Amino acid sequence: MKFFIDTANLAQIKEAQELGVLDGVTTNPSLMAKEGITGRNNILKHYVDICNIVDGDVSAEVISTDFKGMIKEGEELAELHEQIVVKVPMIKDGIKAIKYFSDKGIRTNCTLVFSCGQALLAAKAGAAYVSPFIGRLDDISTDGLNLISEIRHIYDNYEFETQILAASVRHTMHVIDCAKIGADVMTGPLSAIEGLLKHPLTDSGLAKFLEDYQKGN
Ligand code: E4P
Repeated sequence: MKFFIDTANLAQIKEAQELGVLDGVTTNPSLMAKEGITGRNNILKHYVDICNIVDGDVSAEVISTDFKGMIKEGEELAELHEQIVVKVPMIKDGIKAIKYFSDKGIRTNCTLVFSCGQALLAAKAGAAYVSPFIGRLDDISTDGLNLISEIRHIYDNYEFETQILAASVRHTMHVIDCAKIGADVMTGPLSAIEGLLKHPLTDSGLAKFLEDYQKGN
């Protein structure tokens, strides 16, 4: 399973990259705003800065909601850097735009996906990634992981090449469960990745090894 980090914070992206297990980055307009990145030019520059830190795919989201606007924006984003994947919302014009981009060889990430039907449409239109938001489903008492499982089943039935990018991952157990189900990618905060490191027996075991080493030296 690929690990993407879901942030526009350059320090956190660098930290995850230095860990050596980072495969890409996802961003969205809220994450950009959280870092204080505003204005079209600054936002475009920030995407390039992110691409220069990581080796993998970087999702950059369009903010237009009409077909023409999404095409114009998406083409501009795709030209910024070869690592850019154009993030398009799951709406009717979004599906048309994904099909258009896919025919032109521009890779897309279909975002704001909350149902199997939406995931099926995204795959049919040729999205490179589909992003079901599991944390936001959990927030409304709906099983987000179950959606990943159902989409996995549907995509496997027809050998769709669209990668399932489990998004809105909130914690380490989400990461582990996504891996069990067979999500192709998960995107979450650095804390969810670093949580995988932790086990009290590792800490106590290491402390004992070091203590015993000191005794013998
Ligand atoms: C996906 O690409 C989104 O950026 C993201 O995962 C949303 O997560 P949130 O529900 O924690 O905002």
